[in-house]
Amino acid sequence: MSAAGRVVLVTGAASGIGRAVAQAFAEAGDRVVVADLDGTAAGRVAAELGALALPLDVTDPEAVAAGLERVAGELGPVEVLVNNAGIVAGGGSLVDLPIEIFDRVVAVNLRGTFTVTKVAAAQMIEAARGGCIVNISSIGARQPTAGLGHYEATKAGVDALTRTGAIELAGHGIRVNGVAPGPVHTPMTAGLMTDPAARGAWESRIPLGRIATPGDITPLVLFLASPQAGHITGTVVQVDGGQLLV
Ligand SMILES: NC(=O)c1ccc[n+]([C@@H]2O[C@H](COP(=O)([O-])OP(=O)(O)OC[C@H]3O[C@@H](n4cnc5c(N)ncnc54)[C@H](O)[C@@H]3O)[C@@H](O)[C@H]2O)c1
Repeated sequence: MSAAGRVVLVTGAASGIGRAVAQAFAEAGDRVVVADLDGTAAGRVAAELGALALPLDVTDPEAVAAGLERVAGELGPVEVLVNNAGIVAGGGSLVDLPIEIFDRVVAVNLRGTFTVTKVAAAQMIEAARGGCIVNISSIGARQPTAGLGHYEATKAGVDALTRTGAIELAGHGIRVNGVAPGPVHTPMTAGLMTDPAARGAWESRIPLGRIATPGDITPLVLFLASPQAGHITGTVVQVDGGQLLV
């Protein structure tokens, strides 16, 4: 696999962390696919980055298969996959959370990661040139916050898929790793960040004293997808200002 000019597919790339990751790969000279449920936003971001827009719902296996076939036809098989699409969809204790919210978050974060991995990894195996998969997890997979159990369970599942993928795909030269951010300033957290009390509560948990920006997350994603990380697979690395330590 070449170091640049690779076909890089980022899900949920029209906003937040995914957008920043897509931009960083594009600036490194890779051929980026901006895949997102919001097709209009995907088109806008892709135009800004000189990338290919792919309207895509990761919860729809047929759409995923068709979308990745389109990518293979237009750019070639996917060489780097970043499973970033994710939602929180609300909060609530395990007693109070509506089961519909639990099902929605599982469908996007966990089942969506599985579905896109399944199709992209099959493309990588067929192309026989190796590949990289980076899953965007969360430190919530390892550190609970009351009211977010549904979301955190999906990210723990994503970490499990990362490890299984790493051993199953290693023989094909495909590495699978995860990046686990702590809280990050994005549209997902915008509501929380405008509430000074909520923001202060989050900041007080972070030894480095500030909430991350998407630009804090992107370098690790690019590194894990690079040849320099050629002997790293099955890891999930936190980018959390030290929050997991306390
Ligand atoms: N923001 C944080 O504090 C934070 C912390 C840890 C982990 N994460 C993870 O980072 C990833 C990106 O989060 P963000 O904060 O940038 O969120 P965001 O809301 O800014 O962006 C998420 C993007 O995913 C897209 N999306 C939603 N459902 C989709 C679907 N079914 N198919 C395809 N695309 C879909 C949305 O349209 C949106 O463009 C998520 O997996 C999230 O869980 C975020």
